[in-house]
Amino acid sequence: MNTLLQALILFLVSMLQLCYSKPPNIVFIVADDLGWNDVGWRNEQVLTPNLDKLAREGVILNSSYVQPVCTPSRNAFLTGYFPFHTGLQHFVIFPPQPYGLPLKFTLLPERLRKLGYDTHMVGKWHLGFCKWEYTPTYRGFDTFLGYYNGEEHYFSHDYTYQNKKGFDLRNNTKPLREATGDYSANIYATRAIEILENHNKSKPLFLYLPFQSVHAPLEVPERYKDLYPAVKTQARRTYLAMVSALDEAVGNITDTLKKYGYMDDTLIVFTTDNGGPVNWGANNWPLRGAKVTLWEGGTKASAFVHGPMLKKRGYTNTGMIHAVDWYATLLSIAGGKVDPDVDGIDQWDTISSDAPSKRKRFVYNIDEIDDSFAIR
Ligand SMILES: *[C@@H]1O[C@H](CO)[C@@H](O)[C@H](O)[C@H]1NC(C)=O
Ligand SMILES: *[C@@H]1O[C@H](CO)[C@@H](O)[C@H](O)[C@H]1NC(C)=O
Ligand SMILES: *[C@@H]1O[C@H](CO)[C@@H](O)[C@H](O)[C@H]1NC(C)=O
Ligand SMILES: *[C@@H]1O[C@H](CO)[C@@H](O)[C@H](O)[C@H]1NC(C)=O
Repeated sequence: MNTLLQALILFLVSMLQLCYSKPPNIVFIVADDLGWNDVGWRNEQVLTPNLDKLAREGVILNSSYVQPVCTPSRNAFLTGYFPFHTGLQHFVIFPPQPYGLPLKFTLLPERLRKLGYDTHMVGKWHLGFCKWEYTPTYRGFDTFLGYYNGEEHYFSHDYTYQNKKGFDLRNNTKPLREATGDYSANIYATRAIEILENHNKSKPLFLYLPFQSVHAPLEVPERYKDLYPAVKTQARRTYLAMVSALDEAVGNITDTLKKYGYMDDTLIVFTTDNGGPVNWGANNWPLRGAKVTLWEGGTKASAFVHGPMLKKRGYTNTGMIHAVDWYATLLSIAGGKVDPDVDGIDQWDTISSDAPSKRKRFVYNIDEIDDSFAIR
């Protein structure tokens, strides 16, 4: 009788915990220009022990699609809309272009903030900065440390565009000149760790972490190049070294997640924003095409998810997922309601239980300027 009563009480307590537990922390990591064949879990030449461990413990996503370039993919992650629905379907935003992700869209961080999340962004924005209203701290992020454009030098944080040079690294809205000379993977890992150390755990955390790595220019501290003495092609060697620096940054962040007890209720999503640029050292073998193209090499992402809330783990998931689905999926696990007209689908059952994907089709892109269109 006693044990029966105990069991009943335990059951009721765990049900209550289930109903009232706070939603999970979400760490959404985006690598820039990481190719299909540029990760250690697929290519043993690539030294990414930290990413490999997370991928293998979690769920490797084998049919996860993105847009072929930066701005449209980031648009998809944060709005849940295909870029042809937001006006961002043509290539990327360049420094002098006075436009951005239209203000009528409410971004994922803003939705999560309304659900009680603390929201932080560390890294690359690339969704417009022609007016303050377009920048991260005006669009749902409590804090921002990163840069507004698509690329820049990794140490000086200058971007040279059409012979004009500009410094692009900010702490919230202020230029962060003190970081001149520091390597960006290191700056962003340090900032992410600082956020994790200071976060009040009574609130759920959304950390959006789009790294600069491993976009051109090919720049990296020497010590990472020493990891690849046998690679003779210099561009490939530097690129791989940059991938390993990214891996080390993720390793340091993972150590901090463990140290402060985040691992019990944190979902980590890792994805590239588009396929690898083969002219800048990347490799998408055996997929055809590369960054900028609509072929598999440009649009099929190296990606995985990790976290104890995934019911089935340690396998390769083949369900069709698209970049727009993260918005709906993350909003739904945070306890939010997904607007019915959004393009993204809640794929939680697919990624957490290997249930059949609810997605049967997607639009790769509709770009009337480049005359490039595709539908799956
Ligand atoms: C994963 O994707 C690759 C590339 O498209 C394909 O060759 C492979 O068969 C897929 N793996 C599974 C388990 O479906
Ligand atoms: C960024 O700004 C905040 C608030 O002003 C400050 O506390 C923090 O130390 C700054 N971070 C860096 C890296 O300068
Ligand atoms: C990772 O942490 C180690 C030890 O603190 C540090 O030396 C290294 O620079 C860090 N790497 C990155 C990419 O932040
Ligand atoms: C964390 O937030 C809760 C609720 O707002 C508050 O009661 C608590 O004092 C905070 N803890 C710290 C260490 O600031």
